[in-house]
Order: sequence, then C-alpha cells, then structure tokens
Amino acid sequence: MLSKLFLVLEVASLVTAYPHIAELAAKQHVRRQSIPTVPFPEWPGNPTHALYNQFNATEQLIDVTGEHAWAAPTQGQIRGPCAGLNAAANHGYLPRSGIATAESISEGLWNAFSLALDATVFLETATRFFDGNPITGEWSIGYASSAVDLPTGTALGQITGICDYGHLKTEADASITRGDFFAPTQNSNCRSYTNFVQDLFDVANKMNPSTGFLTPQVYAQHSANRKVYSIENNPNYFAPAYAGVAFTFGAHMFAWALLSNHSAEYPRGYQTQDNFLSLWGYTRGSKGQLIYNYGHERIPNNYYKRAPADAWTLEDIVISTAQQCASYPSNCQIGGNTGKVNSFSGIDPGDITGGLINSAKDLSDPARMACFISQAIQADAPGFLDAVFEGPELNEALGLINTQLLPALAPLGSCPNLPKGKSVFAYGHGYPGAQVQFGGPRATEH
Ligand code: HEM
Ligand SMILES: *[C@@H]1O[C@H](CO)[C@@H](O)[C@H](O)[C@H]1NC(C)=O
Ligand SMILES: *[C@@H]1O[C@H](CO)[C@@H](O)[C@H](O)[C@H]1NC(C)=O
Repeated sequence: MLSKLFLVLEVASLVTAYPHIAELAAKQHVRRQSIPTVPFPEWPGNPTHALYNQFNATEQLIDVTGEHAWAAPTQGQIRGPCAGLNAAANHGYLPRSGIATAESISEGLWNAFSLALDATVFLETATRFFDGNPITGEWSIGYASSAVDLPTGTALGQITGICDYGHLKTEADASITRGDFFAPTQNSNCRSYTNFVQDLFDVANKMNPSTGFLTPQVYAQHSANRKVYSIENNPNYFAPAYAGVAFTFGAHMFAWALLSNHSAEYPRGYQTQDNFLSLWGYTRGSKGQLIYNYGHERIPNNYYKRAPADAWTLEDIVISTAQQCASYPSNCQIGGNTGKVNSFSGIDPGDITGGLINSAKDLSDPARMACFISQAIQADAPGFLDAVFEGPELNEALGLINTQLLPALAPLGSCPNLPKGKSVFAYGHGYPGAQVQFGGPRATEH
C-alpha cells in the first residue's frame, strides 16, 4: 500500500567536471530511493518510549503566561532556522535576544520541552565550538551577531551563528522546511518555505488520512523525500558528515519528539497540522494559503510537553538517527551533486572515517553512529576555529577543545581506537556545495 507513495530514482547522471568523483560514483552504483528498506519505527529512539503511558497535566502544561508570554522578536533580536530555539526565545525560555549560553540552553530547553541534559550539553557545546564563541561561551540562534564577537575585536573571520554562513557546520541542506544554501532559488537556510511545509502535510495526509497527524514515520519519510528533492532541484546539494547525515535528521525527530502535544489519550504525543503551523511561525490567509512570518514561532495555549520522566535524551538522538539509516540508507550518504541536478555522487565513508564506517548501512548501528558523530565533530572543530580566530585567541579556543568539547562528546561512548576523521574542508573538495564560508554579502539576509 505504501509503495505508491514512494519514488524510485535511477542512478545519477554524472558530469565530467569532477572526474575523480564521477569515477567513485560509478564504482558505487548509487541508487537513490526513498522506499524504506525496513519500516521506520512508530516510536523511535530508546524502545522504552513505546511503553510510556503516564500523563500529568499539571506537570506537562507549558507555561505561556507572564514571563513566558509570547512576543515577536523586536529589532535586533535574532531568530534563525530552528523552530525549537525560536519558540523558546519568543516565550522567554531562552534569552529573547537570541544569544544563547550553556546555562540558558540547558535550563530553557528542559523547562520548555523536556530535552534531557545530556542532549543539551552535547548540542550546545558542539554548537558553541562550530558556530559561536567558545571563549565567551555565546552563540547566535540565527545569523551572525556582533554581540558574540570578542571585545578585543581581533576575530579573523565572522562568528557565524547557526544559519547563513553557519552552513555545513551544524546546518545543512534538505531541512524540514528551510532552504538549501547554494540552491538557485529558495536559498535562505534561515527561513522556512511554504512548499516544504505542504510537502510534509501531503505525506501526513497520505499516511494518516483520518487524522493528518505528523508522526515520526511521517517525518522520516519527509526527510528521505527532501534529500531526493534537493538532488533533483539543487545542482549544489551537499550533505556533510555531521550536519548532513546526523543533525538534519536529529531536527526531524525533535520536530515530533519535542514539539508534540500530550494528553492522557496520547501520552507519547500527537501533533496536528494546525499546531505545527503555530510552532513554525505560520498562519493561513483568507483562501487557506500558508503565510510564513519569520521568527514568529509560537507555542499554542493549552499545550502539553513531553513528560519529564520520558525525556528525549542523547541516546534517543543517536538511536533514532541510526534507525533512519536502517530504513532509508540513501538518506545517510555523505556527498552531493557535482554542479548539475541529479548528479549525486557519494563520498566513500571508509575514507573519511578511517574505516570506522564503510557504508551508509554501518550507520544503522547506534554505537557506530555515536562514534561517527564524535569523530566528525573532532575532525571539523579545529578548522572551523582557525577560520574565525587568530593569534592568542586561536590558541585559547583550540585549548578549549580538550577541556570543554571532548568531555561533552564523552557520553557518545568510549570509541576505542577511534581513527582521526577527515574534515569537510578535505573531503568536500571538488563539490560546489561544500565550500565552507565564514562571511560575505548574505550575512544580513534572512
Ligand atoms: C542546542 C540545541 C539546538 C541547536 C544547536 C539547534 C540547531 C538547529 C539547527 C542548526 C537547525 C537547522 C538544521 C537544518 O539545517 O536542517 C535546526 C532545525 C530545527 N530544530 Fe533545532 N536546535 C536545537 C534544539 C532544538 C529543540 C529543543 C527543538 C525542538 C523543541 C528543535 C527543533 C528543530 C526543528 C523542528 C528544526 C527544523 C526546522 C525546519 O527545517 O523547519 N531544535 N536546529
Ligand atoms: C503531577 O505533577 C505535579 C507537579 O509536578 C505534582 O505536584 C503532582 O504530585 C503530580 N501528580 C501525580 C498524580 O503524580
Ligand atoms: C493539547 O492536548 C490537550 C489534550 O488533548 C487538548 O485539550 C488541547 O486542546 C491541545 N492543545 C492544542 C493547542 O491543540
């Protein structure tokens, strides 16, 4: 029954501009498809979530009154590509300025959404090193902000924030609703686009015709579809290891796991399209058309978060991403188009990871997925810092890798004899969509 929904695509056509990549792709016989090889689980992450059946309205009602009343961002208050961070900032669970710190993230995301501390520490620390200022501990939840620059002003490049020139670091193409950064059109990676929302709703309406609910299986299918769409429409589509394989999908699961409503009837959560629209900053016009308001993400009144006793953890991020790779192996390929649409060419994961991962299928093992994430972050961090800092500040920032970044990665596992991975600067060479930039004319566009 499901097979009608899915699109099977044939081997990519290759361009001659990148002969070594073309050769590699030919060897791999890349066959893209968005038919799940095994069904994506109804309740992803740790299997204990499938059994959770408690609901406590007092504890789970999200406070959207008083200091947590919704307010649109004012001039200078930054919002970006993350529906969860934007909503948290609009309700004062994060600083309304849009400038995050370790403390505000861990406390705010726990109180608003029941995202567990091991997950927030991991995400926040990696983001601080990739997109923020590890020396002051601040980062922007959107585009670049001078508020996070060093007071001495000696930063070499621009500290990017999580979108715009934060592209390929944490943020990647084929997001739930955001644009691909190097696409010919619809190329803001900070803003949301109505057609991608409609694509998501179309999947939900087909899978769940009576409710239209947005479920984990809907998001998993949409994630696979979005990559196929990018390959077919964006000549410069690129998926790096961490941002493209792990993080983009992690956000798809956050969309459901942390932004669903809960009740006695649905203790594990349910998400309607109307509530999605509020949480993503959308309204409908008089003809029912979708209208997007940048940065206006809003938690509905009378909305119930995940039970704290059933929190979403770092382990859930890792397991659910591994489950996506089991169901949709092509969703977990590193690589990109080579300057033309439908020219996707995979990069050999064995080469990037020193043999830790030899195929997308290997990523369906959560333990290997966890080490892959840890390895990719360690491989990328020094180069990202080097592009932003210089002199003594660079040395200080690099020193913080050992004292702050590595401890935050430790919960991913001991990963004995982890080979040194390659950075996106090395393996992205030759792909037009893999140019990591740290500033330019688009820094103020969103
Ligand atoms: C430190 C914590 C977090 C960081 C650093 C972060 C960062 C990001 C980034 C960089 C993106 C863009 C990803 C892409 O390009 O596909 C994103 C997307 C997203 N995030 Fe977060 N996020 C965090 C926490 C959360 C939380 C707590 C939620 C939910 C409550 C959430 C929900 C989402 C959703 C739904 C999207 C997809 C938006 C779209 O494509 O329309 N995130 N996040
Ligand atoms: C529900 O949560 C509230 C607030 O945390 C707590 O006081 C109450 O005891 C809980 N009720 C039950 C039945 O567990
Ligand atoms: C959330 O779920 C509760 C329980 O089903 C319901 O009463 C409430 O109206 C829902 N909230 C929204 C905004 O739909």
